[in-house]
Amino acid sequence: MQENGHQRVSLVTCTAPVNIAVIKYWGKRDEDLILPVNASLSVTLHQDQLKTTTTVACSRSFQRDRIWLNGREEDISHPRLQSCLQEIRRLARKRRSAGDHSPDISSMSHKLHVCSVNNFPTAAGLASSAAGYACLVYALARLFGVEGELSSIARQGSGSACRSLYGGFVQWNLGERPDGTDSLAEQVAPESSWPELRVLILVVSAEQKSVGSTSGMHTSVETSQLLKHRADAVVPGRMEQMRRAIRQRDFQTFGELTMKDSNQFHAVCLDTYPPIFYLNHVSQQIITLVHHYNQHHGETKVAYTFDAGPNAVIYTLQEHLPEFLQLLRLVFPSEVPEEEFVRGLPVSPAELSEELTRDIKIKPSPQGIRYIISTKAGPGPCEVEGPDFHLLGYDGLPKKRAAV
Ligand code: DP6
Repeated sequence: MQENGHQRVSLVTCTAPVNIAVIKYWGKRDEDLILPVNASLSVTLHQDQLKTTTTVACSRSFQRDRIWLNGREEDISHPRLQSCLQEIRRLARKRRSAGDHSPDISSMSHKLHVCSVNNFPTAAGLASSAAGYACLVYALARLFGVEGELSSIARQGSGSACRSLYGGFVQWNLGERPDGTDSLAEQVAPESSWPELRVLILVVSAEQKSVGSTSGMHTSVETSQLLKHRADAVVPGRMEQMRRAIRQRDFQTFGELTMKDSNQFHAVCLDTYPPIFYLNHVSQQIITLVHHYNQHHGETKVAYTFDAGPNAVIYTLQEHLPEFLQLLRLVFPSEVPEEEFVRGLPVSPAELSEELTRDIKIKPSPQGIRYIISTKAGPGPCEVEGPDFHLLGYDGLPKKRAAV
């Protein structure tokens, strides 16, 4: 809390992670509450490489709610933003009527200012809305002193956002109640339980903008019979197997299920009418490369997954990373300087054997991959303390430069 002239301003800054599903969420049974047709499971990525930072501020002096995203003021009347703001204010009010009159929640009737930035380029095509909504809800909960279950609020911003409220390996339960109170996220295992697991994000050059997840899954629910089969007969078993694979650190099963589930999600997209294509030529080459690589070694050492775009996310174990990365350099030669081509966690150099290069029968695609982000599983959202980290000043307006 700080004095701004005569008015007090409360500021809270938090960060939240991106998550990448290994069992995909695709399709809603309730579009307003954002309730899925199937459960899903994801890995929360480390915030050292990918994170959203959000500052929320409230003051009696603010005239109206306002929001700035990645340096630009946006319309706060967006229905999904409004759902999150209303829900968190409702919880804060509930807390007050339960008898808590601490000063931080007395300010919850004041107008809000929100400022949010990503530390990764929007062009990376990563689902930034998941980290964004998780961060917003987490920061508002801190501001109003609301404790407890927040995933059902983040879910109403963007379905996949509910999984970004936890670190490590996270499932989003299907739930069965019409009001969605049991469609929540929960941690399956912390990131520390599988420290050897590593992640590469292969940022592929996309020529055209693809269909957004929200409208894509709407058309899939309306037209795809495969989606229904997937939700009823495939995902429940896969969730069970995936949880077991994670708890036993069984990469064979984890990797195989991850690839099969990504493939089935893209098959549902093709089964949608009119069909939706998210994978491009480079995505297909990456798929072939991974299978050739695993075949060469006679086991699943590397797995791919693709969301609603052509970028690949690769899961592997630390020991296989140097060789696979070297292979990517061979198949996707780049003119970009090495330190810009591979960003994030360092990977040691490796030599490729003649047998391996012979077994990989793929014609190189120069510049097919723009750059790679090397990362691992990481923790959930957290509050960052200290005025330097706030993205908003005590006047409630975005700072020119913040220490994020
Ligand atoms: C392919 O969570 O972005 O990434 O709920 O409409 O906001 P809305 O959709 P969104 O969909 C994510 C789809 C996916 C799979 C996944 O993350 O599970």
